[in-house]
Amino acid sequence: MLDRPHGKVRAVFKRNKMKYLLCFIFPILILASCSNAGTLKLESPEKKVKIQFQLNSNGQPYYQVFYNKEMVLDTSLLGFDINKGQDLKEGFDITDSQTTSFDETWEQPWGEEHFIRNHYNELRITLQEKQDLKRKLIIVFRVYDDGIGFRYEFPEQENLHHFEILDELTEFNMAGDYGAWWIPAFQPIQFEYLYRNTPLSLMGKVHTPVTFDTGKGTYLSIHEAELKDYSSMVIDACCGTKLKCLLYPYSVKDESKAFVSAPGKTPWRTIQLASSPGDLITSYLILNLNEPNQLGNVSWFKPGKYVGIWWEMHIGKSTWSSGKQHGATTANTEKYIDFAAKNGFNGVLVEGWNTGWDGDWTKNGNDFNYTQPYPDFNLPELSQYASAKGIYLVGHHETAGNIDNYERQMPDAFSLMEKYGYKAVKTGYVESGNILTNGKYHFGQAYIDHFRKVYQLAAQYHIAVVAHEPIKDTGERRTYPNMISREGARGQEFNAWSDDGGNPPSHEEILPFTRCLAGPMDFTPGVFDITIPSKPNNQVNTTLAKQLALYVTMYSPMQMACDLPEHYEKYPDAFEFIKEVGVDWETTKILEAKIGEYITTAREERNTGNWFIGSITNENSREVTIHFDFLEKGQSYNLTIYKDGADADYQSNPESYSIETRTINSSDSITVHLARGGGVAMSLLKVRS
Ligand code: NOJ
Ligand code: CA
Repeated sequence: MLDRPHGKVRAVFKRNKMKYLLCFIFPILILASCSNAGTLKLESPEKKVKIQFQLNSNGQPYYQVFYNKEMVLDTSLLGFDINKGQDLKEGFDITDSQTTSFDETWEQPWGEEHFIRNHYNELRITLQEKQDLKRKLIIVFRVYDDGIGFRYEFPEQENLHHFEILDELTEFNMAGDYGAWWIPAFQPIQFEYLYRNTPLSLMGKVHTPVTFDTGKGTYLSIHEAELKDYSSMVIDACCGTKLKCLLYPYSVKDESKAFVSAPGKTPWRTIQLASSPGDLITSYLILNLNEPNQLGNVSWFKPGKYVGIWWEMHIGKSTWSSGKQHGATTANTEKYIDFAAKNGFNGVLVEGWNTGWDGDWTKNGNDFNYTQPYPDFNLPELSQYASAKGIYLVGHHETAGNIDNYERQMPDAFSLMEKYGYKAVKTGYVESGNILTNGKYHFGQAYIDHFRKVYQLAAQYHIAVVAHEPIKDTGERRTYPNMISREGARGQEFNAWSDDGGNPPSHEEILPFTRCLAGPMDFTPGVFDITIPSKPNNQVNTTLAKQLALYVTMYSPMQMACDLPEHYEKYPDAFEFIKEVGVDWETTKILEAKIGEYITTAREERNTGNWFIGSITNENSREVTIHFDFLEKGQSYNLTIYKDGADADYQSNPESYSIETRTINSSDSITVHLARGGGVAMSLLKVRS
């Protein structure tokens, strides 16, 4: 995908391409230094990050990490417990080490940033057991200025073929009891928990990305990249500030964590490092550690916006199941298609269109049929109706955790969608208790394999995938750009029915620094009927203006406008923002941020040069000042500000907003008041002469 960038980017691109070529001319650079004690050291290109690697007196490998010369991770062991007592962890010698440097700029077919620089130094260490089986293990470190990635490789060899990993012994021995934002692992509802903020030693077992603040101006996040043929990593705060990798077991019957063959490799373990929380968001390390696009030309998927028969089920107005209140009827779908076409949307999602929803669908995964519409959903007619209006249908495949039933039907299901012009499918894996219906773990290796099968097969039918109850994102969209978005956290739906009253206002100020570091999120913003009269015990805990701002602060290339057409029709002027906001970006800037308190994000739309800004706050009101100095010099923009009304408050008056317009340029700045639980959205459309 290295092709013609434009403008400012081109110079950087040319420079990087030159360096990239140089990598091939001088592939081995002497970047790692080896001290007397056998310590291998490697710095990042601008020397911000450094790692040290060594074997201890038992011949067990360990590493340390430094950021801006300060140690952030102390002695952290590496290795494996594997089956038959043949652990791969100590008694090693370093038999080889090589360092290389790499620098390229690659293009995202769609994304939050058009061109991404992948610039790192790499250290590849070959270890061999001194005794007995003399097995080899390779550890690869990539050191970037925004963090590190490391992985284990199992080279082809005589005494290691197919084996079961009982435990990965990787440690993250934090150099302090840093503040941490985390959600618990091994819990019944997967990732759908509120984030907690505690000292890291009190976390317990948590999912990644897990994010830390050292309290001394450094922010870190631990996650993984390119998760395949393996199990997902949980971080276990088992032992003070020493964190350990814990893998999800394969199944209830088989406590092995991963089935691996040599040659093979683990996913990358990643540690992103930044001097501000916003720089964690604009770090593309996870994507860089994935392989380039394997699908070739993916112009068949275009980022877009969708509406759908969805929120009305969550607020109890209609049902997924058949009967009098069935939401997915032909007439109702036509209503949404009309609304989508009138307002410039691309897709219409219809949930509850297929048989299997009657009874307790969360327990009836085997009944779902992905090619059999309910009789009151006329698929051929709706497909024609939509296509005549320039709209496509977004499919819905809820599995209730029955991946076997789904896998059996997938080829027919995707073929049906292709026939009827669908361009995307929303998948779902609702289950309760961590375990899929076939006894495999929701986050174990079998589910990860399943997940890859889905988006690889979907690509063959030119279908993009938005997954709910997914495996966490580890940057697969770089390799398979049809894997566009996921849920994987508490989304908007909790506001409709959660017993705890829904997502508190600070939720959306935590997600960008935690869940969203993994990749795009299908949060489904855009509720305008904030008080949800049909749900007296629930309401959305934001103002209406904050719902607009979420289209910029939460990144997804497919953004939903989740509320009902009649609710948007009540506020046509505010709805204008949802209609005009971009979904595909040239660049992204975080103008200011404090985890759990506020974030202000500015994004430049691809191809138009228009900018959109979203700024949101937690339960505290605040003033935000925006300096427009990032705009193109000498260019004027028509600015529209969608802000909280003077009397707005997420609890007492959430639907109060006001809209202002003016013309500005890069030397201007403005200050806006954000209500409690409030926000402001801005569109800056280039004035064309
Ligand atoms: C949970 C998903 O998150 C939600 O979006 C969907 O409507 C239901 N499952 C039903 O599939
Ligand atoms: Ca969900």
